[in-house]
Amino acid sequence: MAGKLEGKTAIITGAGRGIGKEVALLFAREGCRVLVNDLGTSVAGEGADRTPAEQTVAEITATGGEAMAHYGDVADMDAAEDMVRTALNAWGRLDILVNTAGILRDRMVFNMTEEEWDAVVRVHMKGTFATTKFASIYWRQSRQGGRLINFTSGSGLFGAPGQPNYAAAKMGIWGFTLSCARALGRYGVTANSIAPGAATRMTDTVPESRAAARTARIMAEAAKGTERDPANIAPPLVYLASDQGGWISGRCFGISGYRITLYSNIAPQVVLQGSKMWTTDELFGRMEPTFRQFIQPVA
Ligand SMILES: NC(=O)c1ccc[n+]([C@@H]2O[C@H](COP(=O)([O-])OP(=O)(O)OC[C@H]3O[C@@H](n4cnc5c(N)ncnc54)[C@H](O)[C@@H]3O)[C@@H](O)[C@H]2O)c1
Repeated sequence: MAGKLEGKTAIITGAGRGIGKEVALLFAREGCRVLVNDLGTSVAGEGADRTPAEQTVAEITATGGEAMAHYGDVADMDAAEDMVRTALNAWGRLDILVNTAGILRDRMVFNMTEEEWDAVVRVHMKGTFATTKFASIYWRQSRQGGRLINFTSGSGLFGAPGQPNYAAAKMGIWGFTLSCARALGRYGVTANSIAPGAATRMTDTVPESRAAARTARIMAEAAKGTERDPANIAPPLVYLASDQGGWISGRCFGISGYRITLYSNIAPQVVLQGSKMWTTDELFGRMEPTFRQFIQPVA
């Protein structure tokens, strides 16, 4: 039986480990040729190692799939351009880009250093932009259509207090993806973001109390076959990347375990319309009666 992504090609960043790896393995099983990008860094984004990308490629080719490794840094413009060039040189087309690569440097905002802020914003936001830029140049020229899938996070959607850099970068990706959906739709490209939940080495670094507040804690090592297995994230991505998924664009899906959540996009909630510039006396009388009933305290 033909795979659901038969004949297609994909670049998947951060595909040497965790969620990206599982997406790469399932895409390949569904007939997609995959460029497996991974710099092979620590969770904090330190060091480089070719082994993770090589291992994913080896697992794909061992089962008859087609894959190539790429070891570049997603936030390096030359490396991002090289990923797209490499895929096109080898396979003559690019159908899918999945931006999964990411790092963490958690710290409360009052303790965060400039370097911690810059490193996280760089990998997530610039890294997502860099690969998308070069893929979109190709999609605009080729008119063959495309699928862009970017990774945001509940950390941004709900505002994790110990992750100000990561929350900001992930909400930046959410806005960037919506912008791409509007800009690239005319070229047959859909763009969606994913807020995943799965036990990986990344979530292993989250302190016990915060992890326990969300779900029962399972470390990455024990996740295989459970609801926290990162493999659970991959099937809905096959749908979004497929021809059948072409009707969905500009939206964010939460994917965690066996649950798929469609998030609403931002919409006005309550409007207070004046007819001229507000005086402070008027506003002090109107703000609380108008808005208070709609605003819950932030915990
Ligand atoms: N696991 C979760 O529950 C969860 C929750 C919310 C969001 N996310 C997001 O999902 C994505 C995947 O996370 P994961 O949990 O699988 O993490 P992971 O650490 O297991 O995998 C991330 C991979 O990205 C690679 N990488 C890091 N920086 C890179 C760079 N500059 N260039 C190329 N590759 C680089 C790493 O080497 C690593 O293999 C990330 O964007 C993460 O922020 C994960």
